[in-house]
Amino acid sequence: MKKFRVALLANLKKNAPHFEGMSEDQWADLDSERTVNALVEAIRAGGHTCEFLEGDVTILDTVRKFKPDICFNICEGHYGDAREAQVPAILEMLRIPYTGSKVLTLALALEKGMTKRILSYHELPTPPFQVFERVDEPLSEEMTFPLFVKPSREGTGMGVSAKSIVHNEAELREQVEFIIKKYHQTALVERYIRGREITVGVVGNLVGPVARRLPVDEGAPRIQAGLRFLPPMEVDLQPFEDSDIVYSNRLKVDLADQLNYLCPAPLDEDVVDDLNWYTAAVFRVTGALDVSRVDFRLDADNNWEPYILEINPLPGLSPGISDLVIEAEADGISHTELVNMILDTALKRYGMI
Ligand SMILES: Nc1ncnc2c1ncn2[C@@H]1O[C@H](COP(=O)(O)OP(=O)(O)O)[C@@H](O)[C@H]1O
Ligand SMILES: [Mg+2]
Repeated sequence: MKKFRVALLANLKKNAPHFEGMSEDQWADLDSERTVNALVEAIRAGGHTCEFLEGDVTILDTVRKFKPDICFNICEGHYGDAREAQVPAILEMLRIPYTGSKVLTLALALEKGMTKRILSYHELPTPPFQVFERVDEPLSEEMTFPLFVKPSREGTGMGVSAKSIVHNEAELREQVEFIIKKYHQTALVERYIRGREITVGVVGNLVGPVARRLPVDEGAPRIQAGLRFLPPMEVDLQPFEDSDIVYSNRLKVDLADQLNYLCPAPLDEDVVDDLNWYTAAVFRVTGALDVSRVDFRLDADNNWEPYILEINPLPGLSPGISDLVIEAEADGISHTELVNMILDTALKRYGMI
């Protein structure tokens, strides 16, 4: 196996800037030193040289000094509508290879409304929605209560709580105002899907034409060659039914160690087949690369039909905590192996191995 110089690019919570008017959960999706150290160790265990570099403007100098063969990128970025796409854009300017999805996909996936427009265009099931730029925009007729209100461009359950479920005009307006004011961005309003919470992780790349469209042939094999699907994970929200019936920031961060993760989720084989197919389809139409996690809700009020909530092209990689890591473990893949699988997938894609 060839050995490479790998720069691990991430944004450490402790290095994050502070600014006037930022919310208390502003940096909830950035990484801890524990995660960053674990990733560096995992890459070194793969036989490579690896150093961590902070993914801010300093990488223009640090990356040129370190001269990596490839970067392992998990940067969420700090500022701007497309913050996750900024470091990859710099790496492309410097012509340095990096793991994971590229600029367009990262910018797209961070903007849930735009992603949902693409899913709808491809007739993939995602809850009906409306994006609110102002609090007083008229509600479209097809948007029937209960509805769900969340920020358009955040992750890690930011801005999501039991109050996100709104049952009438007054609650809707209050929550839309809260999101627009607190997060300085549009509010995404969706039909509320009552039901089970499932997420599917995938490592690999689609084989064949990379056009961002789906095979039209009904008889085409449903499992896409080149992708390794990890077992679906279910977050058991039942114990929290009174407070957090949705996967809120409170659950994802404060109560993470009290959550019951069912992995593999208790699902019939044909449901898993459907979820894998949808995951591959979302991966394809958003142009994702190397790794992703797709979040679903199964609708309790409509025969448990799956609805796609979002794709996470930079899924969390915290050992023992992140969904993708738990899914890998359920398939006998250790954290170290998962990290090296992602790295090897990218190295293969670039023709470096
Ligand atoms: N339309 C919806 N119906 C029901 N629950 C939802 C809906 N949208 C989001 N949620 C809940 O909020 C959580 C976070 O939403 P998601 O879009 O996945 O954002 P994040 O980027 O924070 O993970 C979901 O895991 C789910 O529990
Ligand atoms: Mg999610």
